[in-house]
Amino acid sequence: MLQVTGLSKDFGGLRALDDVSFEVYEGEVVGLIGPNGSGKSTAFNVITGFLPATSGAVRFLGEEITHLPAHQVARRGMARTFQLVRPFSHLSTLDNVVAGCLFGKAQIASRKEAESRAFGVLEQVGLADKAYEPARALTVVERKWLEVARALACEPRLLLLDEFMAGLNASEIPQAVELVGRLNASGITIIIVEHIIKAITRTSGRIIVLNAGAKLAEGTAEEVVENPAVIAAYLGT
Ligand SMILES: Nc1ncnc2c1ncn2[C@@H]1O[C@H](COP(=O)(O)OP(=O)(O)OP(=O)(O)O)[C@@H](O)[C@H]1O
Ligand SMILES: [Mg+2]
Repeated sequence: MLQVTGLSKDFGGLRALDDVSFEVYEGEVVGLIGPNGSGKSTAFNVITGFLPATSGAVRFLGEEITHLPAHQVARRGMARTFQLVRPFSHLSTLDNVVAGCLFGKAQIASRKEAESRAFGVLEQVGLADKAYEPARALTVVERKWLEVARALACEPRLLLLDEFMAGLNASEIPQAVELVGRLNASGITIIIVEHIIKAITRTSGRIIVLNAGAKLAEGTAEEVVENPAVIAAYLGT
C-alpha cells in the first residue's frame, strides 16, 4: 500500500531523515518508534506532503506521490493527525470535523451531507455529545479524539497517528488502544507513532525503529524490544 524508498529530509545542515526505506501493507497497524528528535514526525510530514522530500520516493496505492502537496495526498486516501493538536477553537466540534471533510477524498454534495458524515465520525470516536460545543471547551483528551475525527473525515485508507496517546492517563490509554483496533477492523491501515511502548506493542503487528533519522530496526514488538541496538539507542549508550 505504501512504499517509502531512500527517503531523506534535510533542514539546512541537519539530516532529519536519512535514507529511510520501509513498506506498509494493506490492513496492517505499523508502529513507528524512536527517541526524541529521531525523525518520526518528519517522516509523517514528508510522506503526507506537508514538507518536500530532499531525496527518495513515496508510493501510495501504486502511484508515485513524492512531490504531491498535502491536500492531493489526502484526496488519495492518506490522512494524519498532528502531534500538537490545534483545533479551530471558536468553531464547534462538529464544524472542526466538517472542515476536515472539505479536504478529504470524498466529494460531498451539500453542507447537510458533510454534517451528517462528520457526526458519524464523532460517534466513532465517542464525541457525538460534544458536537455543538466550541472546540475550546473540550478537554485535552477530547481534543485528541477530535484530531482523530478530523483525520477520519477525510475517509482515509491509510491513517498516520502522531503521538495521539501522549498526555492520556492510565484509564484513557486502553480506550485509545481500543479505538486503534476498531479503526483497523473497519478497514483502515494505520501507522502509529507513540512513545508509550506498551501501547504500541499492543496495537502494532510490526514496528519500525528510527534513530537519528535512520532506520535502526524493524520487526515484531518482541524482536525490537530485545534488539540491543534499540535498547542502546533508547538508553543513549
Ligand atoms: N521544520 C523544521 N525545521 C528545522 N528542523 C526541524 C524541523 N522539524 C524537525 N526538525 C528537526 O529534525 C529532527 C527530527 O525531528 P522530528 O520532529 O521529526 O523528531 P521526532 O522523532 O518526531 O521527535 P519527538 O519524539 O520529540 O516528537 C530534530 O532534530 C528536529 O529538531
Ligand atoms: Mg514527533
